Amino acid sequence: MSRDYARRRGRILAHRETARGYFELQLGHSEPLIPPPRPGQFCAVLPPRFPSPLLRRPLAYSGAESTAFSFIYAVLGEATRDLAELQRGDEIDWIGPLGSPFPPPPGGKRPVLAAGGIGLGPILFLADHLADVGEEPLLILGARDKGCIPDIHTHPKVELRLCTNDGSAGIHGTVIDGITPDDLSGTAFYCCGPHPMMAAVHRLCEEHGCPCWVSMEEVMACGVGACQGCAVPVIPPDGLEGPAYRRACLEGPVFSSRDIAWPAKVS
Ligand code: FES
Repeated sequence: MSRDYARRRGRILAHRETARGYFELQLGHSEPLIPPPRPGQFCAVLPPRFPSPLLRRPLAYSGAESTAFSFIYAVLGEATRDLAELQRGDEIDWIGPLGSPFPPPPGGKRPVLAAGGIGLGPILFLADHLADVGEEPLLILGARDKGCIPDIHTHPKVELRLCTNDGSAGIHGTVIDGITPDDLSGTAFYCCGPHPMMAAVHRLCEEHGCPCWVSMEEVMACGVGACQGCAVPVIPPDGLEGPAYRRACLEGPVFSSRDIAWPAKVS
């Protein structure tokens, strides 16, 4: 996978709050990206008031074409609070695309996509991309409550299933509660969201023999593989003992869920 670490600047084309505390930002740039970003990859955005905070923020693409892309983010700290104040026409400094994309589903398997919280962005991009290439993906979206469900428009070939923890919209429960036995036959899973959710989807997939890919969204410092700040614990390769790690920004953020050393299930 070729990577492009050149700094670029782009202008905000659209910026809106899609749900309580969640924003979608679309950025246009004059120089086409060839090839364009793919689902699972991310860009690293310079905080609007750089050097405070100092570090770029990794933001997964929620959509992209050659001269524009978008991402969905949650306001979680100083950098994203400043980002939320930017207006259409303001400029942003970014590098990307970075990281590895989601692989295509193995032949004949229906893709089932599970997203929770801020994991929606890359999963939404993947759902639309898969529908564009002829798949009919199922997208299971989990949120705390109705107010946290983003106002999104998916491809007509995407089947959308909503779950809320408080039952205020869709199925009452988590993403796991939204997965039916039928969804676990002849399917391949793609998942992004909180780690406990991804671990639970992984376990379910293992029980039913479904392949599963997860996007590990980690705190990142350099974003380009130099600092080891985004280390993800993985299963050591055969013959090696002790802990092993991969960098989410370089070898990831997309991994087969079988490669991750998930914490033991708390019963
Ligand atoms: Fe520095 Fe990944 S963020 S190695």
